[in-house]
Amino acid sequence: MSELNSIALKIISSGKGILAADESNGTMTKRLEAVNAKSTPESRLKFRNTLFTSSNMKSCIGGVILFDETIKQSIGSKSISEIVSESGAIPGIKVDIGAKTLSSSKEEKITEGLDGLRERLKEYYKLGARFTKWRGVYTISKSYPSKVAISTNAHALARYASLVQESSMVPIIEPEVLMDGHHNSKTCLDKTSEVIRKCFDELIDQKVDLKGVILKPNMILPGTNSEEKINSETIAKLTLECLIKNVPSEIPGIAFLSGGQSEIEATENLNMINLKNSSNFKMTYSYGRALQQSALKYWSKNQDDTEGTQKVFNHRARMSTLAAKGEWKKELEKI
Ligand code: 13P
Repeated sequence: MSELNSIALKIISSGKGILAADESNGTMTKRLEAVNAKSTPESRLKFRNTLFTSSNMKSCIGGVILFDETIKQSIGSKSISEIVSESGAIPGIKVDIGAKTLSSSKEEKITEGLDGLRERLKEYYKLGARFTKWRGVYTISKSYPSKVAISTNAHALARYASLVQESSMVPIIEPEVLMDGHHNSKTCLDKTSEVIRKCFDELIDQKVDLKGVILKPNMILPGTNSEEKINSETIAKLTLECLIKNVPSEIPGIAFLSGGQSEIEATENLNMINLKNSSNFKMTYSYGRALQQSALKYWSKNQDDTEGTQKVFNHRARMSTLAAKGEWKKELEKI
């Protein structure tokens, strides 16, 4: 087993998932202000450290994705990477610098961050990171995602992945087809399939070791403005159809983003995916909002009640891990 393969498996095995705590300062400020909390480097650290030192980290969280600001912060003499490692999780880092307007298709985005990436990766490795994340973002409409958005983002994702592996870290490949829009689940299935296929074509062309990669896709869902209503069985069936057809079997695992689903929806859908999964892929979570939303709400009103916030987070982590094993039940949500 290669070193990269063993890091990837350590992050996503035994029902463990990933805590995506890598919101940029802009996004984190929006999240904090939405619950009437101040956004400062200190408040962002205080909330995140409360999560990282929660007791269920050990049994549930295999990796934590950090933002540049956080990986450079410390509490007393301990760096955040040390705190994350002590919790039993592997520290990771978001290395893209965000999605910018694509000049040739102005309503679409291209993710930037390749310039100087090799040097930044060396620094992050020294700071303790052993895996990384890069998110490509695609919108669905009548004419989108365009061929150019699909191919330029796939090319960038593969260039990123190759540089990350050169630096002895595991790249998370996140091509996120957004939920926003009027499209139905069939369109989401077709477009997500096209996006994922192109990403793997590029990864293979650029000689990325697929055994040392984690895929972070969206689930197959109808758009948020669609009239279509589908249950978790159909979501699981379509999601598995998409991934089993389009993802090479060498990939050790898949860790879904929550993408605007509620905490319970994201948990229920992941559980159903695992109940129906007939492939060898591990199917787990790499949730941001679906792991943190309730904890953030609680914390915003009780910022010194570490125990209370951790209780809320511990519950979400446990529910998500049960879902990653196909053992979640709605009754367990009552705390
Ligand atoms: P959500 O689970 O909130 O979609 O966040 C995951 C993530 O890392 C987005 O890049």
